[in-house]
Parts: sequence; C-alpha cells; structure tokens
Amino acid sequence: MCGPTVSLCLLLWMVVMRVSRTQGQVAALTAPHAEVGRPVLIGCNLTMQTGETVKQVRWLDRHKRLLLAYLPTVPVRVSHQAPGVQLTASHSDGSHITITTVRPEDEGCYRCVFDVYPRGPLEGTTCIRVNGRVHMEGNQTAVSGKPATLSCRYNLPEKVQQVLWRKTAEQGDTTTVASFTKHGSHKTEEQYRGRVSLSRTLGDTRLTIQEVRTEDEACYTCEFHTYPDGTRRDRACLSVYVLPKPEVSHVTSSPGVGEANCTARSRPAAEITWNVGGDNRTLGPPTASAYEQGDGTTVVTSTLLFHPALLSDVSVQCVVHHPGLEKPLTVSVNTNN
Ligand SMILES: *[C@@H]1O[C@H](CO)[C@@H](O)[C@H](O)[C@H]1NC(C)=O
Ligand SMILES: *[C@@H]1O[C@H](CO)[C@@H](O)[C@H](O)[C@H]1NC(C)=O
Ligand SMILES: *[C@@H]1O[C@H](CO)[C@@H](O)[C@H](O)[C@H]1NC(C)=O
Ligand SMILES: *[C@@H]1O[C@H](CO)[C@@H](O)[C@H](O)[C@H]1NC(C)=O
Repeated sequence: MCGPTVSLCLLLWMVVMRVSRTQGQVAALTAPHAEVGRPVLIGCNLTMQTGETVKQVRWLDRHKRLLLAYLPTVPVRVSHQAPGVQLTASHSDGSHITITTVRPEDEGCYRCVFDVYPRGPLEGTTCIRVNGRVHMEGNQTAVSGKPATLSCRYNLPEKVQQVLWRKTAEQGDTTTVASFTKHGSHKTEEQYRGRVSLSRTLGDTRLTIQEVRTEDEACYTCEFHTYPDGTRRDRACLSVYVLPKPEVSHVTSSPGVGEANCTARSRPAAEITWNVGGDNRTLGPPTASAYEQGDGTTVVTSTLLFHPALLSDVSVQCVVHHPGLEKPLTVSVNTNN
C-alpha cells in the first residue's frame, strides 16, 4: 500500500499510534450536567513528562469547530475565541473553559487538544448533557367566582413528551386534572370538564380555572415528562378568598344603650373594627364572635354598645379588614337609620 514511500508511511503510523497511546494522559472532568440558560464549566488535565512543554491549547466542539485556542504563556495569549466561550483557568497542566449560556444544541462532546513539545498533540474528550429547568410561579390567591391561572415553564420544550397537572388537596389526596401530549392529545378529567382549561403548549403550560370555588384551594403540581431526562416537576398552592360583604344593624336595646352589629361572611375570616370619630360615648370595647360555615367561609359579627345620642352626632362606621381587599371596607351605621 505504501510503495516506495515506506519510511513516510511508517512515520505517519508512528504518529497515529503515539496520539492514541497517549490519550489516556489527558483527564477530562466527569460529564457535567448543564442547564439551559446557565453557564457550564468543562475542563481537561494533562499529565506531562519532564522536559515537555505545552505550546498551544485548543478546544473543539462536537462538529470539530474551533471554540478557543491560546498559547499558555504568562499572560495567556488567546488567538481564537468563539462567542459565548471563555477561558476560565489555564495552568501548566490543565485547561478549563466556560460556555457562558448553555443552549439545547450545546449538548455533546468537546475535545481539548494540548500541543505538547516534543511529543505532539494530546487530547481528551468531555461530554455535556443539557437539562431544562422547571419554574412555576409561586403561591397564588384567587377570589371565589373569578378566574385563576397557574403557569409553569420548562425551558427545554423540545424534550417534553407530555405535560400533566395534578392537584393535591389539603387532606393529601392527589388527583390528575389535565394533560397534553406532544402528539396533540388533550385530556381534562371528568370532574373538571367545562370549568378548567389547559393550554395546548409543551414548554409553557397554563391551567385556567374559569370560576374559582373554595374546593379549588389546593396545591398544584405541573409535571413535564421529558425524554430522555425523565420527569421534572414544580408545585405551587392556590388559596381561595371569599370577599366579605358586610352588613350593619342597630337597635336601642334598653333605655340609654344603643347596640350595633356588623356582620361579614368571608374566607379567611375578616377582622372588624369600629370608627366612632374619637367620641367617648361608647360603652366598652366591641365584642366579636366567629362561626365557621360548612362551605369554608367564616361569619364574623362584631357588636358595639354605645350611648344612643352618639348616632345623632357622629358617623359610626364598621371597618372590615380582609387580605383580599386592597383597602378596608367601611359601612356607616347612621345611613341605616
Ligand atoms: C485538574 O487539576 C486541577 C488543579 O491542578 C484540580 O483542581 C482538578 O481537580 C483536576 N481535575 C481532574 C479531573 O483531574
Ligand atoms: C406555598 O403554600 C404552601 C401551602 O400553603 C406552603 O407550604 C409553602 O411554603 C408556600 N410556598 C411559598 C414559597 O410561599
Ligand atoms: C347582634 O348580634 C347578636 C348576636 O349575634 C344578636 O343577639 C343581636 O340581636 C344583634 N343585634 C342587632 C341590633 O342586630
Ligand atoms: C367625654 O370626653 C369629654 C371631653 O373630653 C368629657 O367632657 C366627658 O365627660 C367624657 N364623657 C364620658 C362619658 O367619659
């Protein structure tokens, strides 16, 4: 095969053998897991013999494209640098680079090549696997009767085979709510049909409840069934508020004693205070009672006793505080005369 140029052929063979024989002398970092959108560090260490020097270090991607090349002098002289790649560490017997923002297509094996004098090039391979990250918006509150949307994101949609939402009630039982597959098949469980809808998307999924009910209060898990990385999930809880609609009433219960009630049914329980404009004609602090209802709401009644003349002089107001209200509700007792 080699014909008259036997010596050149032999030389080539020797070079090839030398490179493959010395490959074991470059140690790559064990395959790191990289996350989309984050940086990843990859590196190679070299074992050198005395009298050897590294003339140049090169990093190549899986398409054998040059990412980075430098001379390991002091200071280092970079002769080629692809966008998004940085030299992180260069020491006499190793090299570490950072891919600053990992993209899905960065998955694969990278080669580090040390041009060692006089031995010739030594190379190592290090591979990265790109994973996505799940992110769900945090806990939410919704107002009964209004819509609520839970959003969840997986930043590597191309690997998602199915999106599935589960609900875990306070009692701890978990049920499936709805799912959507890569092939476009869409399913909402019987008990949620017509009331709950799921977006037909894989990377960015939204579960919408049209008119929230108190029984929708639960923790919801979004699951991304990905290939080949398995299931990735995140979870957030939904609290359901029922806003108070306070009512006031008053009587003169006995001569010289006026009595006013302020009642509010809500979820969670409201806090009721009174505003009498600083007038001192109240008969002691208000008293409150709370009764939990079967539907998850609480009825709170606050009773205020006062001198009847108070109502003719000042505006007596019941003030209702509730976490679902931007500002407290006030209801005047006087206008109810
Ligand atoms: C490479 O060398 C550096 C420092 O010399 C060391 O910290 C690191 O653990 C080594 N890595 C491997 C994979 O041998
Ligand atoms: C969300 O709500 C759940 C249950 O109410 C609670 O256990 C969890 O700590 C909350 N998470 C955050 C981030 O507030
Ligand atoms: C106020 O509430 C109490 C107990 O809930 C009730 O006994 C009383 O009759 C009420 N008074 C008025 C003025 O509605
Ligand atoms: C209410 O306050 C006024 C003035 O501060 C005082 O004159 C009056 O006696 C007080 N009334 C009662 C019932 O404490």
